[in-house]
Amino acid sequence: MGFGRMGKSIALGLSKAGIDRRSIAVYDALPEALEEALKLGFKVCESASLATRHANVVIIAVKPGDVEKAVKSFAEDLSGKVVVSVAALVKLETLEKLIPKASVYRAMPNIAVEVNKGFTALAPAERRNEIVEKVFGALGEVVWVDEKALDMLTFFSASTPAAVAELYDAFLLSALRAGLPYHIAKKALAAVFRGVGALVEVKDVSNVRDSVITPRGVTIRIIEKLYTYGVKQRLLKALKDAYEEYEKVLGS
Ligand SMILES: NC(=O)c1ccc[n+]([C@@H]2O[C@H](COP(=O)([O-])OP(=O)(O)OC[C@H]3O[C@@H](n4cnc5c(N)ncnc54)[C@H](OP(=O)(O)O)[C@@H]3O)[C@@H](O)[C@H]2O)c1
Repeated sequence: MGFGRMGKSIALGLSKAGIDRRSIAVYDALPEALEEALKLGFKVCESASLATRHANVVIIAVKPGDVEKAVKSFAEDLSGKVVVSVAALVKLETLEKLIPKASVYRAMPNIAVEVNKGFTALAPAERRNEIVEKVFGALGEVVWVDEKALDMLTFFSASTPAAVAELYDAFLLSALRAGLPYHIAKKALAAVFRGVGALVEVKDVSNVRDSVITPRGVTIRIIEKLYTYGVKQRLLKALKDAYEEYEKVLGS
């Protein structure tokens, strides 16, 4: 339920994982979203109740502020169902009060689920559910955590793709400034981000950096400039400040 940016990304990722689009039932309050879902070949339903009727798992993908109203509107239909909310900030306790007869989970995916390279935190870890894990596992990596960690991962995994896209863009613009053709720069830098992502899983990050630097070489000039301009310190401060603001919203 909710075929916005996240709902659509989940649906597309599931379809890429081999699930027939006609077996993914979609409902959204916005007619334009339903039209798009129809064009893409998903099973569009006239109401949330209808979308839920034959569902093994119901995913709630509306904005946090819309969750209560949305869930209340078809709470009876959710009895006995496995319901997963991807909404940031909305606690399990709140969801359980709204739909006490459902088996309720929270998931915090990131936008890369659309290309099956996502990372999804699932909670609560003490009540793991095979089918929930299977659905989100089809979209990338999953980890079962407690709700506190899920709320932290909302910042570090679900939101940071926007910041990483900004970093990527800075590299892309500098490559274009240097004169590299757009399609080559785009491909090369995407490969760099992908490759470093894979390397830091098996090596220390400083090891990755030091395996590229040679004395008086090209790389040390880049690294030196980053330190001279305080890029890393400023980035750390920006993330710290943003996290503190997020914690205030989380606590309120
Ligand atoms: N975007 C991300 O990267 C991301 C990552 C992790 C988690 N999330 C979570 O995913 C949820 C959705 O985010 P989003 O970025 O996809 O937002 P979005 O693009 O605004 O999509 C939400 C959709 O739900 C629809 N909707 C609202 N109330 C509804 C109702 N009662 N019944 C059915 N549909 C309803 C909205 O329609 P209207 O426009 O008419 O309201 C909109 O089309 C949020 O709770 C967010 O915290 C998002």
